Amino acid sequence: TGYVTLDIGYKNTGATQSAITFLDGELGVLKYRGYPIEQLASKSSFIEVAYLLIYGELPTEKQLADFQLHISRHTLVHEDMKKFFDGFPSKSHPMGQLSSLVCSLSAFYPESLKSNQSEAELDLSIIKMLGKMATIVSWIYKKSLGHPFIYPRNKYDYVTNFLHMTFGQRTEEIEIDPVIVSAMNTLLILHADHEQNCSTSTVRIVGSSESNIYASVSAGISALWGPLHGGANQAVIEMLEKIKEDGGDTDKWIKKAKDKNDTFRLMGFGHRVYKNFDPRAKIIKKACDDILEKLGIDDEVLEIAKKLEEVALKDNYFIERKLYPNVDFYSGIIYRALGFPTDMFTVLFALGRLPGWIAQWKEMKEHKEPIGRPRQIYVGKVNREYVDIKSR
Ligand code: CMC
Repeated sequence: TGYVTLDIGYKNTGATQSAITFLDGELGVLKYRGYPIEQLASKSSFIEVAYLLIYGELPTEKQLADFQLHISRHTLVHEDMKKFFDGFPSKSHPMGQLSSLVCSLSAFYPESLKSNQSEAELDLSIIKMLGKMATIVSWIYKKSLGHPFIYPRNKYDYVTNFLHMTFGQRTEEIEIDPVIVSAMNTLLILHADHEQNCSTSTVRIVGSSESNIYASVSAGISALWGPLHGGANQAVIEMLEKIKEDGGDTDKWIKKAKDKNDTFRLMGFGHRVYKNFDPRAKIIKKACDDILEKLGIDDEVLEIAKKLEEVALKDNYFIERKLYPNVDFYSGIIYRALGFPTDMFTVLFALGRLPGWIAQWKEMKEHKEPIGRPRQIYVGKVNREYVDIKSR
């Protein structure tokens, strides 16, 4: 009732008060719980950042060890879930599989359906969500190869365990290169939260109807899939490959991106909030150079990406609209160097974003926020009389 403010795309609407992530789009600042992203990316681990986001404080050594141990007790997924994996066509997109598999966890852990879960029960659902996600993501990859699933080895930390399930083999123990573990930690930390973005708002709004954690996260995964959001990391590499095949003429593609009659957009460029630079992109660009050098990889698309950035940043179209490389511009080049296929990139984004979604879902519940329900301004026809089908 009453006055409705129209804000399509919620460009200026604050949907909640949150104490999780601070973002200053003009200055290019990003902080989790007050800690600058630059410090967390260089000093912390993904699991420590997950703890920070979810519980609000950096853990003590004991808290971190307990957290890791607790998660490691819930890394197995129900054996019946394998039937779901069997049911998907082997070439189906990993994001569709992930969203469905995560939602199906609610069928295996029905205690999560209780809307008045105690604090301990809620915490257990959170731990299960974290533990099972890494297993599901790596099994999706194994399925795409037609390889046997690798069960979690809980002697490893979260990220090493994930990499082991992804790249390991049943027949022999493999060594995971510490360069890869460190790169993966950095990428996951950089993706771990980003305040009220499309997928996080989705998780909060779905959770606001007291839907369970798995259904809420699954909805977030679906929102993340789109190429304007997390799906951009896959779209960037596909774009760079196309430019490479086309002879590497970056000027031509920049021209296409500026042409209002052409639907092509420079993927990995622009951001709803960052209007100066995306601090995550700065860190990722440097990490990209370091990791490729350490792994001895020479990737031609990295050169194309750098050239595109250079040309775009000097171009008035991009300057006037404050369009800069975002987190997705260089991340795919690293994922590729680590050995992931292109269609897994957005799934890796989801693995990284999971602690953020959980923290935001938990905060929404703690704040006892009302059901999310935007209004509208009706512009359709009014006062029509039903016409019988024969008379239409
Ligand atoms: N290439 C060319 N033009 C662009 C681009 C781009 N990548 N991004 C924005 N513009 C133009 C847009 O056409 C518009 O021009 P005009 O004012 O002449 O109509 C102006 O810049 C403002 O763009 P907008 O679409 O109104 O801005 P938005 O805040 O609604 O959209 C965005 C933000 C990220 C969806 C958009 O910049 C975009 O589509 N970027 C490419 C996809 C991408 O990289 N997405 C990842 C975002 S960061 C990580 C994440 O969220 O997952």
